[in-house]
Amino acid sequence: MIPTVLILGAGSDMAVAIARKYASESYAIQLAARRPEQLHALQQDLQIRHNTTATTHAFDATDFDSHAAFYQSLPVKPEIVICVFGYLGDQEKGQRDWQEASRILHTNYTGAVSILNVVAEDMAARKSGTIIGISSVAGERGRMSNYLYGSAKAGFTAYLSGLRNRLFHTGVHVMSVQPGFVNTRMTENLSLPPLLTAQPEQVAKDVFKAAAKKKNVIYTKWFWRYIMLIIRNIPEFIFKKLKL
Ligand SMILES: NC(=O)c1ccc[n+]([C@@H]2O[C@H](COP(=O)([O-])OP(=O)(O)OC[C@H]3O[C@@H](n4cnc5c(N)ncnc54)[C@H](OP(=O)(O)O)[C@@H]3O)[C@@H](O)[C@H]2O)c1
Repeated sequence: MIPTVLILGAGSDMAVAIARKYASESYAIQLAARRPEQLHALQQDLQIRHNTTATTHAFDATDFDSHAAFYQSLPVKPEIVICVFGYLGDQEKGQRDWQEASRILHTNYTGAVSILNVVAEDMAARKSGTIIGISSVAGERGRMSNYLYGSAKAGFTAYLSGLRNRLFHTGVHVMSVQPGFVNTRMTENLSLPPLLTAQPEQVAKDVFKAAAKKKNVIYTKWFWRYIMLIIRNIPEFIFKKLKL
């Protein structure tokens, strides 16, 4: 039987690239998003181009109470689950407006924990599977320009680390992905340095290759590991004076 990948937040540029990569490697694809009707063109394209099965499913990361039923409703339980959804949000608005702050926290952290708790129980019982979480280098050190998003991603990174530790003992693999800058809808209004910025297809290739090798934590592009090593080691008395 061909293995199945469930992609949570399947409408994003990064998710589409990941779906195309896995489909090209003969995986069946489950595309889950808030508006699944918008994924029909992608679904058709994956099926025709790669001669694989692709299905669409309604999923909202912040509708926590629906998560167990959503997972239960999947026609096939996936071998790989990739948690891609996220919300950068507006940091300044979030400082004043709890609605915006809670949307950032609930999308990037609580929502991910809620659905992956359900997935983890199933995979632990089956004693097999892979969970991949797309976190962010923004979670490695809080900065004035995006610490609401960064703190939620920090929580998610720690969650994935703990989940990896727990599920290792059941034969389930958990991989954390730490992208730096990626050229997607999320960053289209930011001016990103081209040399430091990955294309979604590069991220997809890195994720596929690293998951096949059962890597634990990857950075994409790879050199972000070293950029973050430097950033994490800037003494706090200097760091707090910077306008980052
Ligand atoms: N781009 C970067 O530079 C960068 C860097 C580091 C990490 N990341 C992370 O990479 C992942 C993909 O980001 P991207 O750059 O591709 O961003 P994006 O294009 O903005 O995509 C975000 C996706 O998350 C989905 N989403 C948001 N809230 C949701 C909810 N409540 N329920 C279900 N889906 C929801 C969106 O769905 P809709 O289509 O319904 O809006 C969208 O498809 C995110 O986790 C992001 O934090 C991105």
